[in-house]
Amino acid sequence: MIRTVLRMGDRRLLETAKPVEAFDTPELHALLSDMLDTMKELDGAGLAAPQIGVSLRVVIFGFEANARYPEAAPVPYTVLINPQLTPLSDEETEAWEGCLSVPGLRGIVPRWSRLHYSGYDAFGRRFEHEVDGFHARVVQHECDHLDGILYPMRVRDFSRFGFTDVLQAGSTPEE
Ligand code: NI
Repeated sequence: MIRTVLRMGDRRLLETAKPVEAFDTPELHALLSDMLDTMKELDGAGLAAPQIGVSLRVVIFGFEANARYPEAAPVPYTVLINPQLTPLSDEETEAWEGCLSVPGLRGIVPRWSRLHYSGYDAFGRRFEHEVDGFHARVVQHECDHLDGILYPMRVRDFSRFGFTDVLQAGSTPEE
């Protein structure tokens, strides 16, 4: 079922989400199914449970090709629950980001270039990955939602933040 995505300004987006304690339950599978339907409907690259008003540490992400991020390499569809992120170096990368909770806007956001992440799938099986590039970016963006952080809070240079249609009509962004 497609759910309504909360937009920036809604206090629920600022909460710290709670860890999932019971895996492989009908409720958890229903939540993940709704999140996938919603992400696909809106052509998102990822979605976090708090964005549909569910304060649990659950994110999904992944796509083969994404109109919102035409340059991005494919990322496998991933369910990530109770995630832990660790940077693998101090190096940061800047690139454009948007968010389904901040429709119509884009900004340049610095993120760790490479990171290790671990967490659980819907069945409670632990897994881990080392990633870089857009995969690393989308994991950091989605997991930020679990701590009440929206990407504009991470923008450092507000001369590179604006409405997507205006940015595309004007000078081409560097990345
Ligand atoms: Ni987002």
